[in-house]
Amino acid sequence: MSVAAPPAGRTWVDEVHIRLIQESDLPALEWEGEFAHFRRVYADAFRRFILGLNLMWVAEWPPVGLLGQVFIQLECDRPELCNGIDRAYLYAFRIRPEYRNYGLGGKMMDVVENDLRLRDFHWITLNVARENTKAQELYARRGYRIVAPEPGRWSYIDHKGHIREVVEPAWRMEKRLS
Ligand SMILES: CC(C)(COP(=O)(O)OP(=O)(O)OC[C@H]1O[C@@H](n2cnc3c(N)ncnc32)[C@H](O)[C@@H]1OP(=O)(O)O)[C@@H](O)C(=O)NCCC(=O)NCCS
Repeated sequence: MSVAAPPAGRTWVDEVHIRLIQESDLPALEWEGEFAHFRRVYADAFRRFILGLNLMWVAEWPPVGLLGQVFIQLECDRPELCNGIDRAYLYAFRIRPEYRNYGLGGKMMDVVENDLRLRDFHWITLNVARENTKAQELYARRGYRIVAPEPGRWSYIDHKGHIREVVEPAWRMEKRLS
């Protein structure tokens, strides 16, 4: 599904507001249904956000609405990914296709990394699919390095109550937030 293409130039990027999510934003994370299958995953992430266990960032440009998202787990059950003290895990990062390659993703990462520094977190980790070389290059340029292979196996219950199994071999990357 698509939304209106951005106007020429990239001045619109400067008008994008990167902020923490509100409950009323949740339906827009499904885009036009493409990500409806993650409804429960996002609702669960929102519950954890309310509890202070994670952060859900969105990029909003008023003429169109939400253009992107990135979530951060502060606490989880894998200390090599996040430990609630000084290590946080970035996931569910995406920008609407029409709005990619204008610097918005990098801008979102700037906001996320600076916010974690203010929270006194010193490390940020993420898993990136092995075939997603473009994202790997973006992370590498920002100072992330590959530290381990990840089998990328997980499952979730979709919006129709069906279990979905995911197998997406990945690389774990991390960066020290100086
Ligand atoms: C990964 C993703 C979030 C990056 O978002 P983005 O907004 O495209 O990121 P940026 O624009 O900051 O950077 C991407 C490219 O644009 C380039 N760019 C940055 N500023 C730019 C500008 N002002 N004008 C043109 N290009 C620019 C960057 O150099 C980068 O180049 P590269 O493709 O050679 O790496 C986006 O591509 C996406 O949603 N992908 C699908 C989901 C995904 O793979 N998520 C990551 C999972 S780990």
